[in-house]
Amino acid sequence: MSQRMSDAPLIGKPIERIDGRLKVTGGARYAAEFKHAGMTHGVLVMSKIASGRITGIDAKAAEAQPGVLAVITHLNAPRLPFPEKRLGTDPVFGRTLRVLQEDTIYFNGQPVAVVVAETLEQAEYAASLVKVTYDERKPVTSLEAELARAFPPQEGLSEKSPTGRPADVVRGDPQALSKAEVVIDETYTIPIEHHNPMELLSTIAEWTGGKLTVHDKTQWVPNVQEHLAVVFGLPEEDVHVISLFVGGAFGSSLRPWSHPVVAAIAARVVKRPVKLVVTRKQMFSSHGHRPYTVQRVALGATKGGRLTAIVHEGYAQTSLYEENTENLVNATRMLYASPNCITKYRLVRGNVQTPLYMRGPGECSGVFALDCAMDELAYKLKIDPLELRIRNHAATDPESGLPWSSKSLLECYKQGAERFGWSRRTMEPRSMRDGRYLIGWGMSSGTYPTWRAPSSARVRIFSDGTAVVQSAASDMGPGTWTTMKIIGAEALALSLDRVRSELGDSTLPKAAVHGGSMTTASVGSAVYEASLAARAKLLALASNDARSPLRGATEDQVAVADGRIFLKSDSARGETYSDILRRNRLESIEATVDSKPGDEYGKFSMFAFTAHFVEVRVDSDLGVLRVSRAVTGCGGGRIMNEQTARTQITGAVVGGLGMALTEETVMDHRMGRIVNSSLAEYHVPVNADIPEIEAFFVEERDDKVNPLGAKGIGEVGYVGVAATVANAVFHAPGKRIRQLPITLDKLL
Ligand code: MOS
Repeated sequence: MSQRMSDAPLIGKPIERIDGRLKVTGGARYAAEFKHAGMTHGVLVMSKIASGRITGIDAKAAEAQPGVLAVITHLNAPRLPFPEKRLGTDPVFGRTLRVLQEDTIYFNGQPVAVVVAETLEQAEYAASLVKVTYDERKPVTSLEAELARAFPPQEGLSEKSPTGRPADVVRGDPQALSKAEVVIDETYTIPIEHHNPMELLSTIAEWTGGKLTVHDKTQWVPNVQEHLAVVFGLPEEDVHVISLFVGGAFGSSLRPWSHPVVAAIAARVVKRPVKLVVTRKQMFSSHGHRPYTVQRVALGATKGGRLTAIVHEGYAQTSLYEENTENLVNATRMLYASPNCITKYRLVRGNVQTPLYMRGPGECSGVFALDCAMDELAYKLKIDPLELRIRNHAATDPESGLPWSSKSLLECYKQGAERFGWSRRTMEPRSMRDGRYLIGWGMSSGTYPTWRAPSSARVRIFSDGTAVVQSAASDMGPGTWTTMKIIGAEALALSLDRVRSELGDSTLPKAAVHGGSMTTASVGSAVYEASLAARAKLLALASNDARSPLRGATEDQVAVADGRIFLKSDSARGETYSDILRRNRLESIEATVDSKPGDEYGKFSMFAFTAHFVEVRVDSDLGVLRVSRAVTGCGGGRIMNEQTARTQITGAVVGGLGMALTEETVMDHRMGRIVNSSLAEYHVPVNADIPEIEAFFVEERDDKVNPLGAKGIGEVGYVGVAATVANAVFHAPGKRIRQLPITLDKLL
């Protein structure tokens, strides 16, 4: 009775997100919006130095304030097990920051105390009175200043890196660059960037007996559950985590940071529920960030424009206590065909919070360098930048030698160029003008791997002909609430209004992390398989029942439509799910499936691809830069929901434009302190910065990646955008900017 997804009537149609109305009317309740009887409020006190040791904490004045219930520091906090175990999205090597357990200061803005009071205002005021004294050492926060101490990440040194991020990879001839006919060799710098989602990090923690319940903002409910269980030495089932809605995250809530632990400590101490909301300013040191990177990319080519050598050396900053790594140089090994390729990956320590994946992590930074370098090579060769990429298109994965599961990058180039009007471009910088505006057109490729991780889902079909699909997934905005429902409805052959989805609760079947663009591939596949399993149970009930018109029927003899199973040979012979359940006096029937990837990873190379085209207008007198048009084509496998998918790409392009033009976390290296920790000074793009963005999908059928054929599209739309803008900027005033963001001062 298996149903080919190509026949699917719901999949791929534009369907409005089911949580949209709740979100815009305030009906969706975020972690900090739950009300508990006897709620108290916690406010963090942060370290004002970046390196050293706490020598004393004077909390007397704070404790004497009205309403204050506790001031908790490393001196009086309950001792917690905090085992060395690395969990989930923790970096493979390092140790967890033991919040409120030790006196060492690793970075500025590290939590050193929490004040708990009856009201938020009382807690905030009392927090301002906590006096901390330090033995301060000179912090190191500049990557450039520490380059000489760069080291290969430990995980990259093993025979087979557990994350696929070996420190050094050499393919082909290591001397190829020196033999190349044409060479470019440049260095690219990307500052720290912070995710800055709308919703702040927040937790409400409450103990009932020995059990802990938390409302937490997270991209991975089961991981917060496991983390808190491990840190507090509890059985996992004694920790209940709820995270129904996530107000944006972009990677910032992939890991449980200090705040859920602090909230749970505080709730244990005051024996009441504690709400802890990290402020916008505190967010800049309370979660990870896109790490500061310096990258050297050298390209060698024939005069005819064929790559003969690629060298990519990436240096990324990490914290003092963890080795954060990402796919900084990975895409370089597979994006363009070159027989020879050298990549090198190094970390540099600093007095900073541990970085963490920020949408399109690694690939975003790496492809900025690689695709700017491709543009520089195109100009040196006097070959159109799009033509250069087409000439170096990789027909199979140059790194693994494996065939692609599917790839439509050439089609993305072609359709994107047509929509954009690329053929009207003249090559010379400053050659396209509109009055006093210099017009620049740039392009780039993007890619992101197709991941799938083990996930479980439960599907229950009720005797009234409705169904619910469940998994402990998160939905930070891509539309997982809606996608789960669509996939469930499709696989159960029910109309959309008959299927509900449930997610965001640790009592539901375990889901993979809501990150790495893999929720649809992982959780979606689990929902799909659980739906088929539930359907099969219904058929088995009917098939073994002498009263059923389907008696004796086997899977391949039947089909389903409108919640009814019938014989393919005689559609009049059949019955509805309700008929079967009611006759058997069953309220419902359910199936839970643990779904996981098969052996496809060893057989195929699986990636989504994008092609980006951007137009910039640069005021030739003032240097003011505006992006005026953007076109992005994506090959992302089968699209589940055309509407939310398209907004994934447009949203990602917006993020990429921020990376290109405005986003920069500025560090004062003397103090080791971030100086622009507010939305007034850390500039995310606003509506006025964003032009019309045309995002489209190239139809792609991929039966290799997973049962749904979905590749994941949350991040691939971000990768390459910054390079596209930098390349467009070069085309306008003829100035090559190799340091993000591309601000006015760099253009003058
Ligand atoms: Mo994404 S950076 O894996 O949330």
